Amino acid sequence: MLFMCGIIGYVGPRDAREVIIAGLRRLEYRGYDSAGIAVVADGRLSVAKKAGKLANLEAELATIDFPVAHQGIGHTRWATHGGPTDENAHPHVSADGRVAVVHNGIIENFSDLRAELSNAGVEFKSETDTEVAAHLLAAELLGADTLMDAMRAVVKRLDGAFTLVAVDIAGSGEVVAARRNSPLVVGVGEGENFVASDVLAFIEHTRDVVELGQDQIVRITADEIEVIGFDGQPAETTRYHVDWDTSAAEKSGFDWFMRKEIFEQPRAVADTLLGRFNTKGELVLDEMRGISPEDLRRINKIVIVACGTAYYAGMVAKYAIEHWTRVACEVEVASEFRYRDPIIDPQTLVVTISQSGETADTLMAIRHARVQGAKVIAICNTNGATIPRESDAVIYTHAGPEIGVASTKGFLTQLVACYLLGLYLAQVRGMKYADEIRIITDELERTPAMVQQMLDGAERIYALAHSLAEAGDFIFLGRHVGYPVALEGALKLKEIAYQHAEGFAAGELKHGAIAIIEPDMPVFVVVPPEGRDQLRDKVLSNIKEVKARGAYTIVLAEERDKQISEDADVIIRLPHLSTLLQPLVATVPLQLFACELATVLGHDVDQPRNLAKSVTVE
Ligand code: AGP
Repeated sequence: MLFMCGIIGYVGPRDAREVIIAGLRRLEYRGYDSAGIAVVADGRLSVAKKAGKLANLEAELATIDFPVAHQGIGHTRWATHGGPTDENAHPHVSADGRVAVVHNGIIENFSDLRAELSNAGVEFKSETDTEVAAHLLAAELLGADTLMDAMRAVVKRLDGAFTLVAVDIAGSGEVVAARRNSPLVVGVGEGENFVASDVLAFIEHTRDVVELGQDQIVRITADEIEVIGFDGQPAETTRYHVDWDTSAAEKSGFDWFMRKEIFEQPRAVADTLLGRFNTKGELVLDEMRGISPEDLRRINKIVIVACGTAYYAGMVAKYAIEHWTRVACEVEVASEFRYRDPIIDPQTLVVTISQSGETADTLMAIRHARVQGAKVIAICNTNGATIPRESDAVIYTHAGPEIGVASTKGFLTQLVACYLLGLYLAQVRGMKYADEIRIITDELERTPAMVQQMLDGAERIYALAHSLAEAGDFIFLGRHVGYPVALEGALKLKEIAYQHAEGFAAGELKHGAIAIIEPDMPVFVVVPPEGRDQLRDKVLSNIKEVKARGAYTIVLAEERDKQISEDADVIIRLPHLSTLLQPLVATVPLQLFACELATVLGHDVDQPRNLAKSVTVE
């Protein structure tokens, strides 16, 4: 089975191989275990596929005679079942050599279909579920008038989540794709058209996009785009223009997308705040239209569901929302949510946070919530993705495309959107702390400059990363909103630097984990701002506790905080912000540290092992 892959199809006057390879390069962040291409030229199908990164496929193509063609499909894979081998790489070709198929998702009933096809004499060449789709498509083509008709017959036989893209040697300059529970967009060019998992694949050719809905099939030729539902009826689609360009998908002189995205954060934060306040200083969230102020006044519980970094943003949101609105707010990992039979009803507001908008665990959680009658608000960075489409309202973050697998600007902009939501709820429900909310609003406006200030100190953080390259184990501590920052700092180190790193609520340490502290072990500690003295004093004690056991303490504290010097081996200074907003600045040095440490250790920062950018299966 294959998941979380990048797919592209092209029809037009250019050399399909060039368009497809360039598209796969931009999609490689979605999976990089193997890559492949199939083109149709002069009624013949040519396929090349290779295990490993796209570079392996490019090397292969350089050694073989691969035709210039004007229609083709390509794929970059993230594998689970069925190892990353040449045979399992996509595209998969039907036994009669007539059709080639690429696929993103899971065909859940593939074992039954495989058995049926094997009994009928089909020989399988791979261990993938996708190959059944290729053979089924070829079988249906024997009795169908068009590839689109055959695709429609095939999707009826498939269970699960899938985007399938196919070419047929008999088709006249066309590519056909089908979508269920897995992303697919159409790029509308002049005299050429594209289908892909996301806009990045064709952004250098067109910024005009048709977004496909659930259970739809599209047929593209160079001049036409035809969309039908799985029921065969013409289907409604949404067309939009992408407001970012190719520079957003280039490294622009940085060594990694991740580092570029860290440095884009002042702009990303500013863009996410842009246009949210009217001249009276009131929040205006246009995208909330699907949920009325009356709905928001009626709710008596908020549940935030998300995964990974987005979940940590949700943890911060819980503190802010409960404090500003006094509405009980739970935050839960999406993969756990629906399996514990959560107590959800029409008075529950479910908030979901997802950079990609395609994370399967999160999607399933909101579907479950909506069935229980809850309203759902999505915080999302990807226009038209499945999660915002299936939510009642959406607050878009305006981070621009995030390509590095480790989320950075995604996280900071999610925090901003969470703060906006909290403030909006407080506004709609009657502000409990009007003065505080005014201060927060003013501070938010100043955060892009503060994030920039943190980036201006990058060289010092890089030097720290070099000095700790051999450390091996790292601890991150924080209380209150500093706790999710600690978790995020640890996650970044794990995912790109492959270091053992753990984040703890600082107060929990002495309940067990302090036993792992060894002399010289680096411990990062986030110190709350002055003014939250009870909280701050407790964190200062925690620093002493680890210092007394020989830890090497790296303390993130405000510029004006003079009390911490004696127990800190290294101090990373933060500009002053209210406690609730401090994660916006405290996270930045931790991102820089992880990025540099992974670089020093020689890892591929943008494509860390075993990971893919969006996790589109549960
Ligand atoms: C973050 O660095 C990770 N790559 C990962 O935890 C990510 O945040 C998580 O998979 C959720 O993704 P989403 O925001 O696209 O839903």
